[in-house]
Amino acid sequence: MTALPPVKPVTIQATQTLANQAADIVVVVLDETDLDHGKLKNSDLNNLDSQLGGAVAALAALKDFEAKWLSSAVTLCPVAAVGKRVLLVGGGKKVDEKPARARQIGLKIAEEVARFKAGKVSICGTSTFLSTAELVAQMSLGLRMGVYKYPNSNLSAEARKELETPVAFSFSGLSAGADAQLKQATVVADSIETCRLLQDAPPNVATPAYVANVMAEKARTAGLSVQIYGAEKLRQMGFGAMMAVAGGSANEAQFVVVEYAPTNAKKSVAFVGKGLTMDTGGYSLKTPSTHQVGMKYDMSGAAVVLNSVVAIAKLQLPIRVFGVAALCENMVDAHAYRVGDVLTTYSGKTIEVLNTDAEGRIVLSDALSYTAKDLKPDTIIEYSTLTGAMISALGHLGAGIFSFNSESLEKTVMNAAQQVGERVWPMPTWDEIGEDVKGTIADVNNIGATAGAAGSSVGAMFLKEFVENKPYCHVDIAGVANGNMSVGFPRKISSGYGVQLSIEIARALSAN
Ligand code: BES
Ligand code: ZN
Ligand code: ZN
Repeated sequence: MTALPPVKPVTIQATQTLANQAADIVVVVLDETDLDHGKLKNSDLNNLDSQLGGAVAALAALKDFEAKWLSSAVTLCPVAAVGKRVLLVGGGKKVDEKPARARQIGLKIAEEVARFKAGKVSICGTSTFLSTAELVAQMSLGLRMGVYKYPNSNLSAEARKELETPVAFSFSGLSAGADAQLKQATVVADSIETCRLLQDAPPNVATPAYVANVMAEKARTAGLSVQIYGAEKLRQMGFGAMMAVAGGSANEAQFVVVEYAPTNAKKSVAFVGKGLTMDTGGYSLKTPSTHQVGMKYDMSGAAVVLNSVVAIAKLQLPIRVFGVAALCENMVDAHAYRVGDVLTTYSGKTIEVLNTDAEGRIVLSDALSYTAKDLKPDTIIEYSTLTGAMISALGHLGAGIFSFNSESLEKTVMNAAQQVGERVWPMPTWDEIGEDVKGTIADVNNIGATAGAAGSSVGAMFLKEFVENKPYCHVDIAGVANGNMSVGFPRKISSGYGVQLSIEIARALSAN
């Protein structure tokens, strides 16, 4: 069984006017600067409000809605042909991180839509968050992300009906034409949605084979070529590191390579993802077992990269792109790898295992050297929920980036991140940290000599040993793959973080 669970159908479009939409909710997004002591300051807002029978002015006059960031107020819409309710949403003052904030407004609107069980929603207003097509596109992503829910596997008839009822959003009367951007955003949102469905799926459903099969189908449909290598093949190929980690699991390891190769490509990039469908820690068992909770998300990197390539292909970006996912499970049994084992990787380099819970870097050693040696991309970008230390450093607020072998890659990634509102922060890659993983009876140890010191950088320095000196950026998404707390992301569950970033990096690299 490889079908993804159902999600609520959503359509998002732009329309000329509010008139005759008969929406369940008319959302008016406005900024603090649009109001002045309870009066509408902006003539565009006055015009809009005349179509809404003065509902905005009436609410504003009460002065309990001042358009503060994410504040809201609701009233009846006096003009039935336009809608039933008017919901004001505050865009606050002039603020930074606009793309992420636009998305956050979308998340907020989606929350209200669920509260009112609305099926038809008009969105309009004078907020700066509606002033450019890019921001409107981000808001639409927020709508999609906010509507998303991983469904109960045992839905009641009523819940199923609710889930199957579509919701239609229309952005009305935008000054910036947003049609093209909204179409592109739909492609991005589809990829984020599939990414999240895989992330949130329980580990007894989202096995390596399930993730591989779901994504193979998506990738083929998008016209990509797909290769899936199973355990036997991987052993033959010399994936000694990945196969050691997979040893303790009854679920077969899967190595997935998808490729998008447009004829107009001048450059190439590979996105590589850690795909641990469950990480118990292995014999270095995660204790207390509460630390195992959430480790189904340890395959987030794999879900991100595969879904990113699907979107990049649908958007027809002029760059050759590989998506590489190393999928397996870190479990305990008689065939599981041990502390003390020495593993021979695809690169030929050897690894001494000193902690079976530092398994991500072991799996990635094979994936990265295969990518560098066999696929030979110009640039490698890799996503992994690699270290708990990343959460100590940046909380759940951003991903750490570690870039190697390039003067420009760090900037490229940072700029892309800013464009799409997915936070990254550069982390140290000092040589001394690399000394920490130098081995004695093997080439490298899988943990540093100084326990707990600069843990995320230690992981990065280990990984860079396997990229054959290619321009490489390691993105540690341990804090943001799920439970993301930064602006513009849903809390608690999966985030789909990284899909937009990858697309934007591909866009930037294609233009270089
Ligand atoms: N998947 C974990 C990292 C992780 C921890 C991600 C918490 C998200 C939340 C990884 O495989 C791991 O266990 N890393 C160890 C490395 C250590 C043994 C050097 C860690 O961070 O403790
Ligand atoms: Zn681990
Ligand atoms: Zn892990």
